Formats: sequence, C-alpha cells, structure tokens
Amino acid sequence: MFARLPRVAVALRQVRSTGVRALSTASASTGSTWARAGAFAAAAGVGAATLAASHDQKPSSCSWFGSKKGNFKVCVCGGSGGIGQPLSLLMSMDENVSELSVYDLTVAMVPPQGVAADLGHLEKKAKVTGYAKQLDQRAIDVLGECLTGCSLVLVPAGMPRKPGQTRDDLFKINAGIAQEVVEACAKYCPNAVVALIVNPVNSVVPAMAELYKKKGLDPKNIVGVTTLDVVRANKFVAEQTGTHPENVQVPVVGGHAGVTILPLFSQDATARKIPADQIPAIDKHVQDAGTDVVNAKNGKGSATLSMAYAGARLGKAVLAGLNGTSTTECAYVMSDVMPGFPYFTSKVTFGKTGVEKVHPLGKLSKHEEARLEEAKAALKKEIQSGLDYAASNNLA
Ligand code: NAD
Ligand code: LMR
Repeated sequence: MFARLPRVAVALRQVRSTGVRALSTASASTGSTWARAGAFAAAAGVGAATLAASHDQKPSSCSWFGSKKGNFKVCVCGGSGGIGQPLSLLMSMDENVSELSVYDLTVAMVPPQGVAADLGHLEKKAKVTGYAKQLDQRAIDVLGECLTGCSLVLVPAGMPRKPGQTRDDLFKINAGIAQEVVEACAKYCPNAVVALIVNPVNSVVPAMAELYKKKGLDPKNIVGVTTLDVVRANKFVAEQTGTHPENVQVPVVGGHAGVTILPLFSQDATARKIPADQIPAIDKHVQDAGTDVVNAKNGKGSATLSMAYAGARLGKAVLAGLNGTSTTECAYVMSDVMPGFPYFTSKVTFGKTGVEKVHPLGKLSKHEEARLEEAKAALKKEIQSGLDYAASNNLA
C-alpha cells in the first residue's frame, strides 16, 4: 500500500522501452540514457525523490539520483508450489535480487531445479539455483549453500486449505514444516528476514519467533505476511467506489484469519467515502476473501497468484529497506502496539536492518473499535497456540 510506483513510471516506460536491453548489458551507456530519462521526468515536473522511488523501472547497474540497486540473495522455500513458482518469478525480476534460491522437496510437483532452469532464462540479473531435499533428510543438514548469504527468505512451504477447513486446522502439519525451514535459517542466515506465508500465520509466526528468541536470535526477523489482506481491501474499495486501486491504501491490522483481519477503512481517503451502512459488508468481504478462493478452487488449493503478487510486494519492500529506502507495509510481527498481544499486524517500516519501526494503529472509527475487540478475542487464542508450541519445542 505504501510502496507504490509513482505515475511518472508509466511515462518513463516509453523512454525505457528503447534503451533498457542494451543498458542491462552495457553499463557504460546507462548514464546518458538515464540522464535523458531524468531530463524527461524533470520536464514533466516530477521531483528526484519521487523518481528514486520508482525501483522497478530502472536497470540494475544504474545509480540514479543516489538510489543504487542492491545485490541481495533471496530464497523461496516451497518454490515449486502454487505460490512458490509465481513468487519466484516475481522475485527473480526484482532488480535488488542478484541470487535466487528455489527450494522444495524432491517429491514436489515440479523439481525446484526445473523451476530454477526455467527462471534462469529471464533477461534479469538474478542467478537462479534450485535445491531439493528428500523427505528423509533434514533441512538443516542440506541447505547450507541454498541459504548462506540470504538476506530474505520467503516461506510459502506448507499445506493449503481445502473447503470446510479453517487456517487453524493446518497448524499441526505446517508448524513442523515451518520449524525445519526456520531451523535451517537460524543456522545459515540468522540475520535474514524470514517472511512466513505458511498458514496459520496467526500461530506459526509467534511459534517461530519465540523459537528464534530461545535460540538467542532476533525474533523480529520473523515476519508474518498479511499483505494479501491489504491488496484485497484496496481492490474491493476501488471496485465499490469506481476508482483505480492505485489510489487506495487501506491498512489491514490484527491478524490473518477470519475476524482477526481488520481493515481500517476510516484511514483511507477513498474508503472513507463509503457510506457507514455499507462498511460491515465490505469488511466481511475482505475477511472472507481467502475462503471465497478456497471454495472457488473446489479442493484444488487456495489463493496462489494473488498471494505471489502480495508476497512479492512485501519481499520487494523488505529489500528496498535493506537497500536504504525505508518502506512501509502491514505485517504481523512481534509488537507492543496492543497491550497483552505480543504479536499483532500493523504498519511496519522495513529499513537497513529489517524491521525498523512497528507503528501504532492510529485513530479508529466506532465500527473499527468494536471490530478490534472481536479480533483481539480470536487472536488471543491463536497467539497462545503458537506460544505453547514454542514452549515445548526447540530449534536444533
Ligand atoms: P502448494 O501445496 O501449492 O505448495 C506448497 C509447496 O511447499 C509444495 O511445493 C511442497 O512440496 C512444499 N513443501 C511442503 N513441505 C515442505 C518442506 N518441509 N520443505 C520445503 N518445501 C515443502 O501450496 P500453496 O498454495 O503454495 O500454499 C502454501 C502455504 O501458503 C499454505 O499453508 C497456504 O495456506 C499459505 N497461504 C498463505 C497466504 C497468506 O496470506 N499468508 C495466502 C495464501 C496461501
Ligand atoms: C488467503 O487468505 O487466501 C490464505 O490465507 C489462504 C487461505 O487458506 O485462505
């Protein structure tokens, strides 16, 4: 929501389309072409700071208004799955990524080496490598090369829901999957941001963060990915108000399941125009959106493509932050914004060391205040499941 490309990027695309292919292989020519782009934008009356925020529009070798792209190593765990493949595609296209590890099991639908071979042909700077683990191997024993040097590990490894299941029903199986990934991260890339997509986020994140804490590592490196709730809220508000989703930025706080998903429509200028009597319905639409996709897929999985889009948005925000451009997105992290709730989703600013600032919720409407109480009641139990898991387990 908070890391949008400025409109000038659209205009710049015209300039870029004539020069980017040569630019990516011949850095000597970057200066003049991008100077032209800068002049073009300046003529359009756009400030340098706005241009510097347009990350995806610039070639890798370009240092433009002081914003040099990063060279980060990223891993997608579960990279052969429904989310993992498109997420790997989107991350391999990020100009802040120089190396991408695609990790999955040997029994995955597609060998991760195959996903990597496929992505390795994109005209992007990222070197993509696949890693597969046999079921009887331990991740911590085999992921040394895969994870060493990673700054960001995205984790969609885990079982998705079927119709009739809650996210909470997945905890038993998915907590073990998350733990083996997190255990390997603790050994090989302990300072990486580990972004957990795997459900139930509300319980898996506290469990893994507390295991990190027990191990003497920073629990704030464990980040729950709730970006899809923001993406959905923005889209639904845009549809209802007849505007482009680009103009909508609804923070979604609380957690990532049912009533714990709390969109703060009152904090967005467009969403605020929706009549009060229509807010409960659109609120429910955001809460139920994941279940709607599960039902529409009729037993063949849950949201994958929209999740990959949302996961890449979060991943890009983290990398932008690590690269020096602090970037804010909603995320579910260890937090003190809500008394009695050690984990909560709110706006989080990602900076050079990962989670830089966890923001308070801000002012709520009457409807949101009532909903917050409902969200807290449900979230309390789900956090506790995670804390209980961590109390009876340890990372190797
Ligand atoms: P999927 O079954 O298509 O893919 C999961 C992948 O994980 C598979 O390739 C599988 O081989 C792999 N995997 C399983 N165990 C593993 C292990 N121990 N190590 C490494 N890889 C392993 O499922 P999906 O649709 O991609 O969903 C993945 C997870 O993401 C689910 O838990 C789902 O509920 C969750 N999800 C979360 C959100 C969110 O907003 N946070 C949104 C959508 C889905
Ligand atoms: C979603 O919100 O789409 C995910 O959490 C997947 C699910 O099970 O609904």
